[in-house]
Amino acid sequence: EDESLLVSRPPVVCVMGHVDHGKTSLLDCIRNTHVTDREAGGITQHIGAYVVTINDQKITFLDTPGHEAFTAMRMRGANATDIAILVVAADDGVMPQTVEAINHAKAAGVEIIVAINKIDKPSANIERVKQELSEYELIPEDWGGSTIFVPVSAHSGEGIETLLEMILLTAEVAELKANPKRMARGLVIEAELDKGKGPVATILVQKGTLHVGDFIAAGACSGKVRAMMDDKGRRVKEAAPSTPVEILGLGDVPNAGEILVATENDKEAKHFAATFVSENRNRLLEETKAKMSLDDLF
Ligand code: GTP
Ligand code: NA
Ligand code: MG
Repeated sequence: EDESLLVSRPPVVCVMGHVDHGKTSLLDCIRNTHVTDREAGGITQHIGAYVVTINDQKITFLDTPGHEAFTAMRMRGANATDIAILVVAADDGVMPQTVEAINHAKAAGVEIIVAINKIDKPSANIERVKQELSEYELIPEDWGGSTIFVPVSAHSGEGIETLLEMILLTAEVAELKANPKRMARGLVIEAELDKGKGPVATILVQKGTLHVGDFIAAGACSGKVRAMMDDKGRRVKEAAPSTPVEILGLGDVPNAGEILVATENDKEAKHFAATFVSENRNRLLEETKAKMSLDDLF
């Protein structure tokens, strides 16, 4: 890509960690809202996407579920991001999904910042968490390593400002850029069929700018952006790189993790979708190596 067309974009930060270690609470604290109150059983069941503005600098946050059933979503989260905030409860320490999150972040080549949460609890043991994480090559700076550790409390707000500063600092060093002028490319974060609105997809725009009226393809689906909403539910006409938006106008519901592309025209969008289908068929055929016809598979 032509370097001269690139401009800075906000960091995309994924919040990961074991179930109930306080990922959503931490985001709530950052946003000063109360999403946990609305969640079924207090368990996050999808990737929420939010934009937070700190001193005129934007950060896009993706919340991921810690429950063991949601491995694929954590992988998707890690793959879509620049920085992973690994949340570890100071009273609980490193747990199975903590380790899984570390592995996903490392596999995706994502910078990890550790947030040791729940330090307000009497049973909190910050040193033990540092010790446990050092076994996974996450060594704090004060122990001679290079990983940023920030002790925080999502309840009292302690350490949150430092955590945000560390995110902005890490993002600055990474010099994150994208070309906002090219046609949009993004990632499907989640999608569903709404009874009234039809297919609704949350898209993280990664390159280019997505506009209302753009022809689009996502996975095997195609369509035209009919309406877009930002993370606060406000209607918007365009979405720049690192922006999450909810879009209406796809003909079908794509799968989370699939790529969305904007195209020149309807024909091209349909071609993209059809190509995706045939490529997937070929891949599936190879994977299964079964001697059945395509119609048996689809
Ligand atoms: P999943 O999305 O289900 O994986 O959980 P989560 O990591 O998002 O945790 P969540 O924010 O739902 O918090 C789990 C529980 O821990 C809730 O009861 C919170 O009130 C509590 N909690 C979160 N942060 C803190 C904290 O800093 N201190 C204390 N004392 N409790 C906290
Ligand atoms: Na929870
Ligand atoms: Mg949660």
